[in-house]
Amino acid sequence: MHPYSNILVTGGAGFIGSHFIRFLLSTYPHITVVNVDLLTYCGNLENVKDVSNDPRYHFRKADIGDLEAMEKILTEFCIDCIVNFAAESDNNKAVLSPLDFVKTNVLGTATLLSAARKTSVKRFHHISTCEVFGELPLTSPERFVEESPYRPRTPYNASKASSDLFVKSYYHTFGLPVTISYSANNYGTHQFPEKVIPVFTLKALKNEPLPLFASTGHKREWIHVLDHSKAIDLILQKGVIGESYNIGTGFEKTISEIAADILGILHKPKSMTTIVPDRLGHDSRYLLDSSKVRALGWKPEIVWEKGLAETVEWYAKNAQWWEPLLARSHSWK
Ligand SMILES: NC(=O)c1ccc[n+]([C@@H]2O[C@H](COP(=O)([O-])OP(=O)(O)OC[C@H]3O[C@@H](n4cnc5c(N)ncnc54)[C@H](O)[C@@H]3O)[C@@H](O)[C@H]2O)c1
Repeated sequence: MHPYSNILVTGGAGFIGSHFIRFLLSTYPHITVVNVDLLTYCGNLENVKDVSNDPRYHFRKADIGDLEAMEKILTEFCIDCIVNFAAESDNNKAVLSPLDFVKTNVLGTATLLSAARKTSVKRFHHISTCEVFGELPLTSPERFVEESPYRPRTPYNASKASSDLFVKSYYHTFGLPVTISYSANNYGTHQFPEKVIPVFTLKALKNEPLPLFASTGHKREWIHVLDHSKAIDLILQKGVIGESYNIGTGFEKTISEIAADILGILHKPKSMTTIVPDRLGHDSRYLLDSSKVRALGWKPEIVWEKGLAETVEWYAKNAQWWEPLLARSHSWK
């Protein structure tokens, strides 16, 4: 039996939140899920279309930074658990309009924390990122642990780090029952075409060169979005209040390796790439030590070769999903 019955998922019309909602509803028959999403440029109700008629699913279009609206929703649905995915999440957009990131990620999270405190929510789980710890050298044996110092280097990372600090402060100051998870880079279906895997896939499908940042050896640690969803759920069930958990696989790929893998899946020439300037503040590498969440009983199940092939094939078959989104993407040229 799951410890929570009425779960508020913020940002549930986005990439990871929509997968998490689908996972909860398909796994736990007794759970009600309320999806609060402002439907910004990347929020898309198509991502949750398959659950929209489920009587256990409810959607409210609202801003996590609207205190009155948040308190009303938390009370209306007797919410006992919040999982906060809602965020401005794109480093490219953060270079163009950093203040949007302060507004939603910092002020929005602080507002949601205040609403949770007022309505005595039993659990506030905050989704953070490996990027708050800064960058690692490409060849270092070091991995970030949950206690690693925060060293954010971009406006996105700084806003996520700030939101984490507010979450921690509500635990220490007010006793709000919080947990935080730091995830590695996610991949899977329904990811907005501004992140590297959908951008490379769609470029390849259109027979256009894949735009590789000049530092083609920069690496990321990759996790399938379903493995991430399962880890979050385990933390809700077995995590210790006040604690933080890294969620990563240890599996790294460079930018040029990702391009080669996608071109290989689509049977396109490996030379179909072009070099573009690095994004400002482009971090070289992040890698997490995830032994703490593994000790709770989690391990990744989806291997890159299978997960990536399924993801690329999904984009190939779902042009009606992504074609209308390209005009809204900050990374699509
Ligand atoms: N994608 C990754 O690889 C990754 C890795 C680590 C952590 N994260 C974190 O996971 C979370 C979800 O990431 P994602 O990739 O699914 O992002 P996404 O951009 O696909 O989704 C974000 C969602 O939040 C909604 N939103 C934005 N501002 C809002 C507001 N003020 N009020 C309510 N809703 C709002 C958007 O409409 C969108 O549906 C973010 O907090 C992100 O920092 C993502």
